[in-house]
Amino acid sequence: MIQCWRLEDARQTLVIGVRDKQLAEVVYWGPRLPADENLETLCAAHGLDVAGGMLDQHPELSICPAAARSFQGQAGMALRDGNGKPILPKLVFDQAVAETNALTLSYSDQANGLSYRAHFAIDAETNLITTWAELDADQPINLQYLAAPVFPAPQLSDEMIDFAGRWCGEFQLSRTPWSAGMRSRDNRTGRTGHEHFPGLIIPCRGATNTQGEAYGFHYGWSGGHRMIAEELPDGRRQIQFSNASDTELAPLTYFKTAPLFVTYSDTGLNGCATAFQRHLRDRVVTWPHPDRPRPVHYNCWEAIYFDHKIPELQAIADRAADLGAERFVLDDGWFGKRDDDTTSLGDWFIDARKYPDGLSPLIDHVHGLGMTFGIWFEPEMINPDSDTYRAHPEWVLGDDHQILGRHQMVLNMALPAVRDYLFDRIGKVLTDYDIDYIKWDHNRVLPSPDADQTRGTYDLLDRLRTAFPQVEIESCSSGGGRIDFGVMEHTQRVWLSDSNDALERLKIQHNAALFLPQAVTGSHIGPRVCHTSGRILDIRFRAWVAAQRHMGFEMDPRELTDDEADVLRRVTQWWKDNRDWMRRADILRLDAADPAVLAEQHLRQDQFVVFAGKADTSTQIAPRPLRLTGLDADATYRVDLANRDELARKGLSRGQSPLKTGPIEVSGQYLMHHGITLPWSFPETMWVIEGHKI
Ligand code: GLA
Repeated sequence: MIQCWRLEDARQTLVIGVRDKQLAEVVYWGPRLPADENLETLCAAHGLDVAGGMLDQHPELSICPAAARSFQGQAGMALRDGNGKPILPKLVFDQAVAETNALTLSYSDQANGLSYRAHFAIDAETNLITTWAELDADQPINLQYLAAPVFPAPQLSDEMIDFAGRWCGEFQLSRTPWSAGMRSRDNRTGRTGHEHFPGLIIPCRGATNTQGEAYGFHYGWSGGHRMIAEELPDGRRQIQFSNASDTELAPLTYFKTAPLFVTYSDTGLNGCATAFQRHLRDRVVTWPHPDRPRPVHYNCWEAIYFDHKIPELQAIADRAADLGAERFVLDDGWFGKRDDDTTSLGDWFIDARKYPDGLSPLIDHVHGLGMTFGIWFEPEMINPDSDTYRAHPEWVLGDDHQILGRHQMVLNMALPAVRDYLFDRIGKVLTDYDIDYIKWDHNRVLPSPDADQTRGTYDLLDRLRTAFPQVEIESCSSGGGRIDFGVMEHTQRVWLSDSNDALERLKIQHNAALFLPQAVTGSHIGPRVCHTSGRILDIRFRAWVAAQRHMGFEMDPRELTDDEADVLRRVTQWWKDNRDWMRRADILRLDAADPAVLAEQHLRQDQFVVFAGKADTSTQIAPRPLRLTGLDADATYRVDLANRDELARKGLSRGQSPLKTGPIEVSGQYLMHHGITLPWSFPETMWVIEGHKI
């Protein structure tokens, strides 16, 4: 007997079928099928032939591949009973609950006392499918591994793209050719990690940023994920995502995976990117003030580090406000006796040596300048050199053998007493002062991974958000060490990287846009001599790179020359004039013919802006035309350079390119299939091109 269901939006159809009460299989996932497609025929046609050297029937590549069905690849769950004996579940279909755009499939295994549910929901506007699994057990069991519902991967695909990275170098694309066997990533850091962004893109053969087919996956969990991309001996391919293995440290009777977000695109990698960007911005993140423009930030970290002096901070605030900042964020160093990073994490009391009258003299000054005030915490951490540690050594996670990270240990967030303490301390600061923003940091990996830690942190974030609904929170973890849709359910911004080097940032932002929209992605203009790379980059390039995302400043503004301050003021004003539509725009990565150019197009309805960053010198002498994407082929667009005033500074250009003197009007077809020919420019510069449909 066969039962089938289809979930779909305008771009894709997902067909799920159950045969003979076995675990369901995804029998089709791709472009939208005709309405009259016979799903039972699809399910029947899905079966593979059997030949020599194999079992008499192919074990289902199901939503939870079952070892008990002789599945020889990675099974969808690994369990042990209370005595440590492996359980091999034999799940039998019970029922399906199908609603518009949602499906829940329930299974049970009477003999082992288990029940399993797989959930699927499709969002017709964002084109993202959300799926997760739950498992109940009659008796407490040990869970080593439970995959979110498993998807087949396309076979007309030669490679997979996942993500690596490091401090100051997040979102590095890692391309691995498909081959027999398994690519497995099991993140043992206990946090999302710079090294392990939980995303995967499977491009079909020939796909680029702007064209071809691609499948996108993201696992929304901050405790570290496990990914398996496996090609079976029979040629089938499966994709599994779950929490990192063995992170449930106690026997339990209920388990739930984090949500796995997936999408199919027929517009290249960009189709995946727009689904993730829109879903994160419009569904996952909840904004305290949805209609308030995103404020320009000033963050004092790279200006003063731990050296807090009220008059200096006030003088910095004056300059920042004059440049256009609208929110002043006081970073690390205001609490305990925090004169460097060896001490005081956990002691969330204002340092009376630095702030004898509390924070009011600074906050009032900042408010007087028309800016709001934000503040840094690193709640989950503790220095052994702190009063809190001396009073509560039992609050710490891990044992004596662990190695410290940045001189600090991790608090055990599963302990209610720890969460209560942090809620009280953070709550006191938020109650005593008018503060609308927290930069929430997490500067080390866990001593060992533990899912309870992540649940505890989410719980504290929720409690604080309920008590202080007007406060926005940024997820920072030495830059981009905790970026995922799980933490973004509780926060509104990510500190993408500690690298304020515009050249590095250009690359990190470009890749992060495969998942992250403009509205949540922090980007700051750092000091003239970059503190993490030693590079000196022109203020124009630094300013435009920050203007691609949620803009801010992080240098000591007193170092700026008049020219630099002038540029900053102008680019910041440009950003303010455009931030509202850009916040709602899709970021589309362009297929630049010149590999030296990293270009993206922010597109919303009839308006776009292209940022064409020159990351290197070109091999050829003249600029190659840059093709745009997603436009109306038959419409005419007025295209203009937003930063024509920089022509003189961009080097050796001496030709007659019409864009040098004014806008041009051309068709969408021309822009998408020939492209814009830009004036010549030095490396480490940016062209900003604005376009409107007329
Ligand atoms: C981390 C963050 C930085 C800064 C410092 C403060 O490294 O990523 O932005 O807040 O901590 O100690």
